[in-house]
Amino acid sequence: METDGKEEISVEDEAVDKDIFKDCSNIAFYRRQKQQLSKKSTYQALLDSVTVGKDSTNFQIINEATKVPLLTEVYSIEGNIFRFKINEESPLKPRYEVPDVLTSKPNTVRLISCSRDIGSLELTNGKGDLKCHITANPFKVDLVSEEEVVMSINSLGQLYFEHLQIPLKERATKENEEDASVDTSQQNQEDMGLWEEKFGKYVDVKVNGPASIGLDFSLNGFEYLYGLPQHAESHQLKNTGDGEAYRLYNLDVYGYKINDKMGIYGSVPYLLAHKLGRTLGIFWLNSSETLVEINTEPAVKYTLTQMGTVAAKQKVTSRTNVHWMSESGIIDVFLLTGPTPSDVFKQYSSLTGTQAMPPLFSLGYHQCRWNYEDEHDVKAVDAGFDKHDIPYDVIWLDIEHTEGKRYFTWDKKRFPNPKRMQELLQNKKRKLVVISDPHIKIDPDYSVYAKAKEQGFFVKNHEGGDFEGVCWPGLSSYLDFTNPKVREWYSGLFAFSVYEGSTDILYIWNDMNEPSVFRGPELTMHKNAIHHGNWEHRELHNIYGFYQQMATAEGLIQRSKGKERPFVLTRSFFAGSQKYGAVWTGDNIAEWSYLKISIPMLLTLSITGISFCGADVGGFIGNPEAELLVRWYQAGAYQPFFRSHATMNTKRREPWLFGEENTRLIRQAIRERYALLPYWYSLFYRAHVTSEPIMRPLWVEFPDELQTFGVEDEYMLGSALLVHPVTEPKATVVDVFLPGSNES
Ligand code: GLC
Repeated sequence: METDGKEEISVEDEAVDKDIFKDCSNIAFYRRQKQQLSKKSTYQALLDSVTVGKDSTNFQIINEATKVPLLTEVYSIEGNIFRFKINEESPLKPRYEVPDVLTSKPNTVRLISCSRDIGSLELTNGKGDLKCHITANPFKVDLVSEEEVVMSINSLGQLYFEHLQIPLKERATKENEEDASVDTSQQNQEDMGLWEEKFGKYVDVKVNGPASIGLDFSLNGFEYLYGLPQHAESHQLKNTGDGEAYRLYNLDVYGYKINDKMGIYGSVPYLLAHKLGRTLGIFWLNSSETLVEINTEPAVKYTLTQMGTVAAKQKVTSRTNVHWMSESGIIDVFLLTGPTPSDVFKQYSSLTGTQAMPPLFSLGYHQCRWNYEDEHDVKAVDAGFDKHDIPYDVIWLDIEHTEGKRYFTWDKKRFPNPKRMQELLQNKKRKLVVISDPHIKIDPDYSVYAKAKEQGFFVKNHEGGDFEGVCWPGLSSYLDFTNPKVREWYSGLFAFSVYEGSTDILYIWNDMNEPSVFRGPELTMHKNAIHHGNWEHRELHNIYGFYQQMATAEGLIQRSKGKERPFVLTRSFFAGSQKYGAVWTGDNIAEWSYLKISIPMLLTLSITGISFCGADVGGFIGNPEAELLVRWYQAGAYQPFFRSHATMNTKRREPWLFGEENTRLIRQAIRERYALLPYWYSLFYRAHVTSEPIMRPLWVEFPDELQTFGVEDEYMLGSALLVHPVTEPKATVVDVFLPGSNES
């Protein structure tokens, strides 16, 4: 086996070595924001500067200490959505605004100023009862519905905006002294990681210096928050203690730890909050490293004698504070005002798109392993399903099918005749999925490499050469999918005439697209690598994988001349990835606890738009005992993407290898999947056209039943089926909570 550089995380080890990855204390922008916020500097809105445009209402806000003006734009978007953009009024150079995630320019509704005095301004969209009440000093925004403040922005004064600065070296000492926001001492420079940040042996040199942003939201009466994938955590977001924020930073974390808030493969910077009578969403459109703190202040009940009537009324509701912090970019936040869960789903998909309608075969059962060795192996496994009378639709080939991990090629010894192999599968109406990763082996004789090199299609290092990093093939360069020309070219590689040995039953799996760089900081790309448009990798890290899947899906559409729906599985993702295919939860472990956590992980993906999701059945790492494997099949049959997968040093585990009784149980589970296939297909259609998630937490279907809000060991599939998988060994019974019993 070739591990090429991944020796730091030996594939033999089962659990992740967390020291490879940062925690909050290692993240300089987190430390800076915490330090600054403890000093309580405030922002003031200059309401004299208000201008009311066709699309937005704009005004300046200014930080007391720095005096640098920020421009706030308030938009009201059709469907009861508010958008707040905050940027420097005149930054030294443009700051990154995430492109390509919003499906179109949102339709705005003109805001009307409904009341104004010296210290405040109230805006309404003229539809419904929602108002935005802006207080000038200190700057605060309240979202008001029926005279009740549903949400406040910056009520905790955590608005934070590091304006771009001329590098210290280039500034005269006098200027430094004048700028109160900059501490120039050498020690402070290092501790705060302003222009340079160290982590282990890695040094991140920041040409733009500090550029981080942050803002707080207080949700009145809300105690239940959900979303922010991807974490191996509970469905309900937990309070984050000191230094324990939810981290959104796409990373390749082999055997990730569960019940942990570290960033793993994908990020959707979006959360939902729910209480009796209202659901809300906050979508923070930023693709740089992001941290989110959650803090619920429970309801405090005072007796009337202690507090007096008025105070008592104000103190009985709880509230949850959400603090977003990003390393760079601008503040661009969408408030989805519900009021019902299904309104919030529609509001979110009106911005980022709905789940792509998948081809029917992809809703069946998928058989994968790293690796099916050769054509003979594929034939034998395929025949095994027929022999054991187990339905399946798709067999998968991992990286070993290629010539030395050169994607779009075939290993000539193992797969001498890929078309013949696909014909055999096609005769049984089955499909093949092969892997295609974003790293391209540096080899001038490899045509994909040579062509990309010639056209300048790789991500660059900060010195202007091609970025080079180690991944499966050894030294590689990475396609810059953020460049539309690169995407167009890459899509073309899937044309039947270009991709030798491909046929119309071959579909694609994009992996390692965080991107994974074995010897890079935190096993990913250096933040100062350079992308199309001269943007640093740090600005767009979390959206890199999104773009690869976008280009792959487009390639499959084009090869069929627009006639067929693509199937593309991706490991890394961002808000809007649902438009391009399916997502899975990466390198899990064959343990009961990982089976159990697959449910909340998939529920979280589902409510943040990504309905087509699944976890490796059986657990990727390690060897599941037969009972666990059977239970995993039984659970997986009721999860949207149903694929078994195993890493290369594991024992073979095709469904018939565990004795007759277990074969029977697995057969039965897979058949149950197929029996419900029309239901699955209809649910996907509904997700595609009306934005309804497929796997639904109980609170979504029963939003008026408080008892459902924290349930995550069972869920609804659509509105007709309650699923409670068995996730404990030796279980003979499970306790099932039956919702819907409320008289209402
Ligand atoms: C990564 C993927 C895994 C795949 C392996 C080899 O670890 O997560 O699914 O089998 O790479 O391609």
